[in-house]
Amino acid sequence: MSGVEGFHPSSMAHKMLIIDTDCGIDDALAIMVALAAPNVKVLGITCCFGNTDVDNVCQNVLRVLSVCEQTQIPVFKGSAGSLVGAVKPYKDHFGTDGLGDVLEDRNSDIWERQIPKEHAVHAMLRLVKENQGEVSLIALGPLTNLALAVRLDPTFPQKLKDLYIMGGNMEGMGNMTPCAEFNFRMDAESAYIVLEEYTCTTHIATWEFTCRNKLSWEVFDKLVNQDTSAARFMKKITSKCWAFSREFGISNRDVLFGQGFVPYDAFAVAACVDRSVITESLECAVRVEMQGELGRGMMVLDPANIMKKGHYVFVMKTCDLTKFSSMLTASLQLE
Ligand code: RIB
Ligand code: CA
Repeated sequence: MSGVEGFHPSSMAHKMLIIDTDCGIDDALAIMVALAAPNVKVLGITCCFGNTDVDNVCQNVLRVLSVCEQTQIPVFKGSAGSLVGAVKPYKDHFGTDGLGDVLEDRNSDIWERQIPKEHAVHAMLRLVKENQGEVSLIALGPLTNLALAVRLDPTFPQKLKDLYIMGGNMEGMGNMTPCAEFNFRMDAESAYIVLEEYTCTTHIATWEFTCRNKLSWEVFDKLVNQDTSAARFMKKITSKCWAFSREFGISNRDVLFGQGFVPYDAFAVAACVDRSVITESLECAVRVEMQGELGRGMMVLDPANIMKKGHYVFVMKTCDLTKFSSMLTASLQLE
Protein backbone atom coordinates (compact mmCIF):
# COMPACT_ATOMS: atom_id res chain seq x y z
CA MET A 1 0.00 0.00 0.00
CA SER A 2 1.78 3.09 -1.22
CA GLY A 3 0.38 5.32 1.49
CA VAL A 4 1.25 2.87 4.24
CA GLU A 5 4.79 2.01 2.99
CA GLY A 6 5.52 5.68 2.49
CA PHE A 7 3.90 6.62 5.80
CA HIS A 8 5.62 9.73 7.10
CA PRO A 9 5.35 11.68 10.36
CA SER A 10 2.63 14.29 10.32
CA SER A 11 5.12 16.99 9.29
CA MET A 12 5.22 15.32 5.85
CA ALA A 13 1.47 14.70 5.62
CA HIS A 14 -0.47 17.05 3.35
CA LYS A 15 -3.87 15.93 4.69
CA MET A 16 -4.94 15.22 8.25
CA LEU A 17 -8.16 13.26 8.70
CA ILE A 18 -10.54 12.30 11.47
CA ILE A 19 -12.97 9.58 10.41
CA ASP A 20 -16.28 9.25 12.27
CA THR A 21 -17.80 5.86 11.52
CA ASP A 22 -20.49 3.29 12.32
CA CYS A 23 -18.12 0.68 10.91
CA GLY A 24 -19.98 -1.73 8.71
CA ILE A 25 -18.44 -3.42 5.68
CA ASP A 26 -18.43 -0.34 3.46
CA ASP A 27 -16.97 1.80 6.26
CA ALA A 28 -14.17 -0.77 6.58
CA LEU A 29 -13.32 -0.40 2.89
CA ALA A 30 -13.54 3.40 3.17
CA ILE A 31 -11.11 3.40 6.12
CA MET A 32 -8.72 1.24 4.07
CA VAL A 33 -8.90 3.77 1.21
CA ALA A 34 -7.79 6.48 3.66
CA LEU A 35 -4.99 4.31 5.08
CA ALA A 36 -3.63 3.56 1.60
CA ALA A 37 -3.75 7.17 0.36
CA PRO A 38 -0.34 8.83 0.01
CA ASN A 39 0.42 11.92 2.19
CA VAL A 40 -2.58 11.29 4.44
CA LYS A 41 -2.42 10.99 8.23
CA VAL A 42 -5.46 9.63 10.08
CA LEU A 43 -5.31 11.42 13.45
CA GLY A 44 -8.03 9.24 14.96
CA ILE A 45 -11.19 7.27 14.30
CA THR A 46 -14.33 8.09 16.29
CA CYS A 47 -17.11 5.53 16.61
CA CYS A 48 -20.88 5.85 16.66
CA PHE A 49 -23.83 3.41 16.66
CA GLY A 50 -25.47 2.67 13.33
CA ASN A 51 -24.71 -0.46 11.31
CA THR A 52 -24.26 -2.20 14.66
CA ASP A 53 -23.95 -1.14 18.31
CA VAL A 54 -21.09 1.18 19.18
CA ASP A 55 -19.02 -1.48 20.99
CA ASN A 56 -19.07 -3.66 17.87
CA VAL A 57 -18.22 -0.58 15.79
CA CYS A 58 -15.11 0.02 17.94
CA GLN A 59 -14.10 -3.63 17.63
CA ASN A 60 -14.66 -3.57 13.86
CA VAL A 61 -12.43 -0.51 13.45
CA LEU A 62 -9.69 -2.12 15.57
CA ARG A 63 -9.87 -5.20 13.34
CA VAL A 64 -9.51 -3.12 10.19
CA LEU A 65 -6.51 -1.27 11.65
CA SER A 66 -4.87 -4.54 12.65
CA VAL A 67 -5.39 -6.02 9.16
CA CYS A 68 -3.78 -2.86 7.73
CA GLU A 69 -1.01 -2.85 10.36
CA GLN A 70 -2.01 0.64 11.51
CA THR A 71 -2.86 -0.10 15.13
CA GLN A 72 -1.08 3.09 16.23
CA ILE A 73 -4.14 5.07 15.09
CA PRO A 74 -6.34 5.78 18.15
CA VAL A 75 -9.98 4.60 18.14
CA PHE A 76 -12.51 6.39 20.38
CA LYS A 77 -15.94 5.23 21.54
CA GLY A 78 -18.77 7.72 20.94
CA SER A 79 -22.55 7.82 20.83
CA ALA A 80 -24.48 4.63 21.52
CA GLY A 81 -27.75 6.08 20.27
CA SER A 82 -29.42 9.03 18.55
CA LEU A 83 -30.04 12.41 20.19
CA VAL A 84 -33.78 11.76 20.46
CA GLY A 85 -35.44 8.41 21.11
CA ALA A 86 -33.85 5.09 21.93
CA VAL A 87 -32.99 4.03 18.39
CA LYS A 88 -31.70 0.49 18.09
CA PRO A 89 -28.74 -0.07 15.71
CA TYR A 90 -29.87 -1.51 12.42
CA LYS A 91 -29.12 -5.20 12.67
CA ASP A 92 -29.36 -6.24 9.10
CA HIS A 93 -27.35 -3.84 6.98
CA PHE A 94 -24.13 -5.84 7.17
CA GLY A 95 -25.07 -8.56 9.66
CA THR A 96 -25.48 -8.30 13.41
CA ASP A 97 -21.83 -7.48 14.10
CA GLY A 98 -21.57 -5.08 11.14
CA LEU A 99 -18.85 -7.10 9.39
CA GLY A 100 -20.95 -9.90 7.92
CA ASP A 101 -21.13 -12.17 11.02
CA VAL A 102 -18.18 -14.31 9.89
CA LEU A 103 -15.33 -13.28 12.19
CA GLU A 104 -14.35 -15.49 15.13
CA ASP A 105 -12.96 -14.31 18.50
CA ARG A 106 -15.47 -11.53 19.02
CA ASN A 107 -14.14 -11.64 22.54
CA SER A 108 -14.96 -8.12 23.53
CA ASP A 109 -12.56 -7.57 26.42
CA ILE A 110 -9.46 -8.11 24.24
CA TRP A 111 -10.75 -5.24 22.11
CA GLU A 112 -12.22 -3.09 24.89
CA ARG A 113 -8.76 -2.70 26.48
CA GLN A 114 -7.56 -0.96 23.32
CA ILE A 115 -10.20 1.80 23.48
CA PRO A 116 -9.07 4.92 25.41
CA LYS A 117 -11.34 6.29 28.14
CA GLU A 118 -11.59 9.66 26.34
CA HIS A 119 -15.04 10.02 24.72
CA ALA A 120 -15.01 10.27 20.93
CA VAL A 121 -16.54 13.75 20.96
CA HIS A 122 -13.91 15.06 23.39
CA ALA A 123 -11.18 13.44 21.26
CA MET A 124 -12.61 15.06 18.12
CA LEU A 125 -12.62 18.50 19.79
CA ARG A 126 -9.08 18.05 21.16
CA LEU A 127 -7.50 16.77 17.92
CA VAL A 128 -9.05 19.57 15.87
CA LYS A 129 -7.99 22.21 18.44
CA GLU A 130 -4.43 20.84 18.27
CA ASN A 131 -4.47 21.08 14.46
CA GLN A 132 -6.68 24.11 13.91
CA GLY A 133 -7.66 24.65 10.26
CA GLU A 134 -5.80 21.51 9.12
CA VAL A 135 -8.22 18.65 9.74
CA SER A 136 -10.69 17.18 7.26
CA LEU A 137 -13.54 15.48 9.14
CA ILE A 138 -15.15 12.55 7.30
CA ALA A 139 -18.54 11.33 8.60
CA LEU A 140 -19.63 7.85 7.52
CA GLY A 141 -22.47 7.10 9.95
CA PRO A 142 -25.27 8.84 11.86
CA LEU A 143 -24.12 12.38 12.73
CA THR A 144 -24.68 12.16 16.50
CA ASN A 145 -21.02 12.70 17.47
CA LEU A 146 -20.80 15.72 15.19
CA ALA A 147 -23.99 17.23 16.63
CA LEU A 148 -22.68 16.78 20.18
CA ALA A 149 -19.32 18.31 19.17
CA VAL A 150 -20.92 21.55 17.98
CA ARG A 151 -23.09 21.68 21.12
CA LEU A 152 -19.98 21.38 23.31
CA ASP A 153 -18.01 23.89 21.18
CA PRO A 154 -20.10 26.10 18.84
CA THR A 155 -16.87 27.26 17.14
CA PHE A 156 -15.84 23.67 16.28
CA PRO A 157 -16.96 23.82 12.61
CA GLN A 158 -14.81 26.91 12.02
CA LYS A 159 -11.76 25.03 13.29
CA LEU A 160 -12.13 22.35 10.60
CA LYS A 161 -10.49 22.53 7.18
CA ASP A 162 -13.58 20.88 5.64
CA LEU A 163 -16.24 18.22 6.16
CA TYR A 164 -17.09 15.20 3.98
CA ILE A 165 -20.31 13.27 4.62
CA MET A 166 -21.71 10.05 3.22
CA GLY A 167 -25.43 10.36 3.85
CA GLY A 168 -28.69 11.96 2.93
CA ASN A 169 -30.33 12.01 -0.49
CA MET A 170 -30.73 14.35 -3.45
CA GLU A 171 -33.64 12.97 -5.54
CA GLY A 172 -36.10 12.13 -2.78
CA MET A 173 -35.15 8.45 -2.74
CA GLY A 174 -33.79 6.39 0.14
CA ASN A 175 -32.79 3.02 1.56
CA MET A 176 -34.18 3.28 5.10
CA THR A 177 -37.58 4.60 4.04
CA PRO A 178 -38.62 5.32 0.45
CA CYS A 179 -37.34 8.89 0.87
CA ALA A 180 -34.69 8.87 3.60
CA GLU A 181 -31.16 7.46 3.72
CA PHE A 182 -29.95 5.32 6.63
CA ASN A 183 -27.35 7.63 8.30
CA PHE A 184 -29.69 10.65 8.27
CA ARG A 185 -32.80 8.68 9.22
CA MET A 186 -31.09 6.97 12.17
CA ASP A 187 -30.60 10.41 13.78
CA ALA A 188 -32.58 13.06 11.92
CA GLU A 189 -32.07 15.70 14.65
CA SER A 190 -28.28 15.35 14.48
CA ALA A 191 -28.34 15.48 10.69
CA TYR A 192 -30.47 18.65 10.90
CA ILE A 193 -28.06 20.26 13.40
CA VAL A 194 -24.98 19.42 11.33
CA LEU A 195 -26.42 20.67 8.04
CA GLU A 196 -27.56 23.90 9.73
CA GLU A 197 -24.54 24.66 11.95
CA TYR A 198 -21.45 23.26 10.19
CA THR A 199 -20.78 26.24 7.94
CA CYS A 200 -17.31 24.98 6.93
CA THR A 201 -16.83 23.73 3.37
CA THR A 202 -18.99 20.60 3.20
CA HIS A 203 -19.13 17.88 0.53
CA ILE A 204 -21.92 15.29 0.58
CA ALA A 205 -22.00 11.89 -1.13
CA THR A 206 -25.74 11.17 -1.11
CA TRP A 207 -27.32 7.74 -1.42
CA GLU A 208 -28.47 8.25 -5.03
CA PHE A 209 -25.04 9.60 -6.06
CA THR A 210 -23.35 6.45 -4.74
CA CYS A 211 -25.94 4.15 -6.36
CA ARG A 212 -25.63 5.95 -9.71
CA ASN A 213 -21.88 5.30 -9.55
CA LYS A 214 -22.16 1.62 -8.67
CA LEU A 215 -19.35 -0.68 -9.85
CA SER A 216 -19.72 -4.04 -11.59
CA TRP A 217 -19.44 -7.32 -9.74
CA GLU A 218 -16.48 -8.08 -12.04
CA VAL A 219 -14.67 -5.07 -10.53
CA PHE A 220 -15.63 -6.27 -7.05
CA ASP A 221 -14.35 -9.82 -7.75
CA LYS A 222 -11.00 -8.48 -9.02
CA LEU A 223 -10.75 -6.29 -5.93
CA VAL A 224 -11.29 -9.02 -3.33
CA ASN A 225 -9.36 -11.74 -5.21
CA GLN A 226 -6.05 -9.89 -5.02
CA ASP A 227 -3.48 -12.05 -3.29
CA THR A 228 -3.14 -9.85 -0.20
CA SER A 229 -4.23 -10.10 3.43
CA ALA A 230 -6.40 -7.00 3.14
CA ALA A 231 -8.24 -8.44 0.10
CA ARG A 232 -8.71 -11.78 1.86
CA PHE A 233 -10.20 -9.94 4.85
CA MET A 234 -12.62 -8.02 2.60
CA LYS A 235 -13.56 -11.21 0.75
CA LYS A 236 -14.30 -12.95 4.05
CA ILE A 237 -16.50 -10.24 5.57
CA THR A 238 -18.54 -9.88 2.37
CA SER A 239 -18.87 -13.64 1.81
CA LYS A 240 -22.19 -14.16 3.58
CA CYS A 241 -23.65 -10.66 3.49
CA TRP A 242 -26.90 -10.14 1.59
CA ALA A 243 -25.69 -6.72 0.38
CA PHE A 244 -22.98 -8.50 -1.64
CA SER A 245 -25.14 -11.29 -3.04
CA ARG A 246 -25.66 -11.32 -6.83
CA GLU A 247 -29.29 -12.37 -6.76
CA PHE A 248 -31.54 -9.54 -7.84
CA GLY A 249 -33.01 -8.32 -4.58
CA ILE A 250 -36.07 -6.25 -3.84
CA SER A 251 -34.16 -3.42 -2.22
CA ASN A 252 -34.88 0.11 -3.44
CA ARG A 253 -31.33 0.18 -4.71
CA ASP A 254 -31.74 -2.86 -6.97
CA VAL A 255 -35.11 -1.72 -8.29
CA LEU A 256 -34.07 1.90 -8.90
CA PHE A 257 -30.43 1.55 -9.95
CA GLY A 258 -29.95 -2.10 -10.93
CA GLN A 259 -27.43 -4.61 -9.69
CA GLY A 260 -23.88 -3.76 -8.74
CA PHE A 261 -21.38 -3.05 -5.97
CA VAL A 262 -21.91 0.23 -4.10
CA PRO A 263 -19.13 1.07 -1.61
CA TYR A 264 -21.17 3.95 -0.17
CA ASP A 265 -18.66 5.35 2.33
CA ALA A 266 -15.59 5.00 0.10
CA PHE A 267 -16.92 7.81 -2.13
CA ALA A 268 -16.69 10.31 0.74
CA VAL A 269 -13.14 9.26 1.65
CA ALA A 270 -11.98 9.16 -1.99
CA ALA A 271 -13.40 12.66 -2.58
CA CYS A 272 -11.53 13.94 0.48
CA VAL A 273 -8.13 12.41 -0.33
CA ASP A 274 -8.32 13.25 -4.05
CA ARG A 275 -10.80 15.99 -5.00
CA SER A 276 -10.38 15.19 -8.71
CA VAL A 277 -12.37 11.95 -8.16
CA ILE A 278 -15.53 14.09 -8.07
CA THR A 279 -15.98 15.63 -11.53
CA GLU A 280 -19.12 17.67 -10.80
CA SER A 281 -20.99 18.88 -7.72
CA LEU A 282 -24.08 21.01 -7.18
CA GLU A 283 -23.45 23.87 -4.72
CA CYS A 284 -26.73 24.63 -2.99
CA ALA A 285 -28.65 25.11 0.24
CA VAL A 286 -29.97 21.96 1.91
CA ARG A 287 -32.06 21.12 4.99
CA VAL A 288 -33.01 17.87 6.74
CA GLU A 289 -36.67 17.13 7.48
CA MET A 290 -37.32 15.92 11.04
CA GLN A 291 -41.08 15.43 10.84
CA GLY A 292 -43.27 12.92 9.06
CA GLU A 293 -43.44 9.16 9.07
CA LEU A 294 -41.90 8.87 5.58
CA GLY A 295 -40.07 12.17 5.21
CA ARG A 296 -38.17 12.17 8.52
CA GLY A 297 -34.43 12.13 7.74
CA MET A 298 -34.90 13.25 4.13
CA MET A 299 -32.40 15.84 2.86
CA VAL A 300 -34.12 18.56 0.83
CA LEU A 301 -32.09 20.45 -1.83
CA ASP A 302 -32.89 24.12 -2.44
CA PRO A 303 -30.86 25.29 -5.50
CA ALA A 304 -32.86 28.54 -5.76
CA ASN A 305 -32.37 29.14 -2.02
CA ILE A 306 -36.08 29.74 -1.39
CA MET A 307 -35.20 29.09 2.27
CA LYS A 308 -32.78 32.06 2.17
CA LYS A 309 -30.00 30.08 3.85
CA GLY A 310 -26.61 31.72 4.31
CA HIS A 311 -24.63 28.51 3.75
CA TYR A 312 -24.35 26.22 0.71
CA VAL A 313 -22.91 22.70 0.57
CA PHE A 314 -21.40 20.73 -2.35
CA VAL A 315 -23.68 17.81 -3.30
CA MET A 316 -21.64 15.39 -5.40
CA LYS A 317 -23.07 14.65 -8.84
CA THR A 318 -20.53 12.79 -11.01
CA CYS A 319 -17.44 10.71 -10.33
CA ASP A 320 -14.32 9.60 -12.23
CA LEU A 321 -14.96 5.87 -11.83
CA THR A 322 -11.56 4.88 -13.24
CA LYS A 323 -9.77 6.88 -10.57
CA PHE A 324 -12.20 5.69 -7.91
CA SER A 325 -11.75 2.01 -8.83
CA SER A 326 -7.96 2.33 -8.74
CA MET A 327 -8.16 3.85 -5.25
CA LEU A 328 -10.27 0.89 -4.13
CA THR A 329 -7.74 -1.54 -5.67
CA ALA A 330 -4.85 0.22 -3.93
CA SER A 331 -6.72 0.09 -0.60
CA LEU A 332 -6.61 -3.71 -0.57
CA GLN A 333 -2.98 -4.15 -1.61
CA LEU A 334 -1.47 -4.59 1.83
CA GLU A 335 0.45 -7.89 1.68
O1 RIB B 1 -26.93 4.46 3.60
C1 RIB B 1 -25.62 3.96 3.57
C2 RIB B 1 -24.87 4.35 4.80
O2 RIB B 1 -25.48 3.74 5.95
C3 RIB B 1 -23.42 3.85 4.80
O3 RIB B 1 -22.64 4.75 5.53
C4 RIB B 1 -23.53 2.54 5.54
O4 RIB B 1 -22.30 2.16 6.13
C5 RIB B 1 -24.54 2.88 6.60
O5 RIB B 1 -23.86 3.57 7.63
CA1 CA C 1 -21.32 3.90 7.39
